[in-house]
Amino acid sequence: MRRTKIKDLLAHGEIGAKVTVKGWVRTFRSNRFIALNDGSTINNLQAVVDFENTSEDLLKRLTTSAAVSIEGTILESQGKGQRIEIEVENLEILGDADPDEYPLQPKKHSLEFLREKAHLRPRTQVMSAVYRVRNALAYGIHKFFNEKGFVYMHTPIITGSDAEGAGETFRVSTIDPKNPPLGEDGEVDYKEDFFGKPVNLSVSGQLEAEVGAMALGDVYTFGPTFRAENSNTSRHLAEFWMIEPEMAFYDLVDNMDLAEEMIKYLIDYAMEQCPEDLEFLNQRYAQEEKTKPQNQRAELGLLERLKFVSDNNFERLTYTEAIEVLRRSKPFKKGKFKYPVEWGVDLSSEHERYLVEKEYKKPVILTDYPKEIKSFYMKQNEDGKTVAAMDVLFPGIGEIIGGSQREENLEKLVKRMEEMDVPQEELWWYLELRKFGTAPHSGFGLGFERIVLFVTGMGNIRDVIPFPRAPKSADF
Ligand code: 4AD
Ligand code: MG
Repeated sequence: MRRTKIKDLLAHGEIGAKVTVKGWVRTFRSNRFIALNDGSTINNLQAVVDFENTSEDLLKRLTTSAAVSIEGTILESQGKGQRIEIEVENLEILGDADPDEYPLQPKKHSLEFLREKAHLRPRTQVMSAVYRVRNALAYGIHKFFNEKGFVYMHTPIITGSDAEGAGETFRVSTIDPKNPPLGEDGEVDYKEDFFGKPVNLSVSGQLEAEVGAMALGDVYTFGPTFRAENSNTSRHLAEFWMIEPEMAFYDLVDNMDLAEEMIKYLIDYAMEQCPEDLEFLNQRYAQEEKTKPQNQRAELGLLERLKFVSDNNFERLTYTEAIEVLRRSKPFKKGKFKYPVEWGVDLSSEHERYLVEKEYKKPVILTDYPKEIKSFYMKQNEDGKTVAAMDVLFPGIGEIIGGSQREENLEKLVKRMEEMDVPQEELWWYLELRKFGTAPHSGFGLGFERIVLFVTGMGNIRDVIPFPRAPKSADF
C-alpha cells in the first residue's frame, strides 16, 4: 500500500479507511500510544498499538526517533484536539534509535544545544516548523516575482569582482598554500591559479543582475552569497541567501514600493501556507517574551506583529531626517546611545532599532544616505552629498533590505569609482552597460534569513538556516 502523508491523513483521512504511514516516533506512552511524525506537518498522528498482541521486543524498540512503518485503520479519536487516530494492525521498525545513545529527548532542549546537533534538530517541532516556513517563503518569492513577470536569473557564485567593495570576500583558489607559484616579485602568481587570476565567492549577484535588467527589464536573483565579515552576531552569517531584484526604468520610489509590496506578500503567503507552524511559533515566541524583563517585552505577539506589518504602510524618511529625529530622542539626550549620532555616521543597530521600535513602531525605510558610507554604484543625488539609497529597517532585526537607484551616467560612475578606489579593469563590462543604451534602473537585496527570522520570531539567525556558517563555525 502506498504511504499517506500525515498532513493529508489528518486533514482528509476517512474513518474506516486502511492506510500505511511512515515516520519517526516522537513519543510512545502507556505501552500503547505512538505519537508519530513524518515531517509533513507539525502535528503528530496518534497510532494505537494493541500491546497484548505485540511482542515485548517490538514494544521496547518504539523509542523516540525510531523510524517505523505502520499499516492500520483510521478510527475516530477519543483524544482531545485530534479528529482521528489509527489502530495499528501491522508495525515494522525501519530503523532503531537506541534511547541510551540518542541525544534528543522529547523534552525541550535549548536552541544552543540543538545547534550542535544540526543533523538531528530538524526532528524537533521548533526546527521543523522553521524549515517549513522557510520553504514557504522561498516558494513565495518565486511566486511573487513570476506573477509580476520578472525573470529569475542565475548569477555566478565564483566571481572576480567584489560587488559591495567591502573587501570581505572568500578567496577561491586551487593553489597549494604550502607551495604557491611565485612571480618574479616574490608574490603569489595567480596566473598559475585555476582561473588565471584571483577570484572569490560572490558577496552579491547585483552587478550581474544589472546586466539582466538592461536586457530583460525586470529580473531577480535568489542564491547563496558569502561574506568574510567577522561579525559574530545573531544577525550575521558567512553564507546567507539573498534575493536581488533589479528593474529597468525604476526610480527610488518605485524601488521602495516594490520592496514594501514584496515583504507584505511574503508575510501573507507564509500565514496562508503555514498556519499551524506559525501558531506553534507564536506560542513559542510568547513564552520567550515572558522570560524577558517587563520593559523589554514586545508589545505584540508574533502573529499580531505579522498582521500589523502586512496591514500598515512603512514609514519613509531620509537619512538626514532620521539623524534629526535621533538627536531629539530621549536616549540621545540622556547619553544612552553607545555610538555617536551626527550627520555622516553609519547608523548602528541601536539607532535603527530605536527608530523602528520606539519612534515609529513600524517598519521604516530610510533613504538618501551620505555617499561616503554607501557603495560606488549608487545614483548620486543633486545635492552632491547623498545617494539614492534605501534601507528597510525591521523591528527586532534592524536592516532587512539594502538597495538603491543605480548610477547610470558613465562619467559620474567612473569618477566615483576613482574616488573610492574601485578597480575598473575588473568591471569593464559593468561600465559598458552605461556606454550602450544606459537607462535609469534600481534594485535591492533582501537577506533571506532575516525575513525568515522575522516571520518565525526566532532570535538567532543560526536557527533559521539548516547548516549555519559563521566565524569558527562550519561543523556540519
Ligand atoms: O546591504 P547589502 O550589503 O546590499 C547588497 O548586497 C546589495 N548588492 C543589494 C542590492 O542592491 N542588490 O545586503 C543586502 C541584505 C541586507 O539588508 C541584509 O538583510 C542581508 O543582505 N545581509 C546579511 N544577512 C545575513 N548575514 C550577513 N552577513 C548579511 N549581510 C547582508
Ligand atoms: Mg546594507
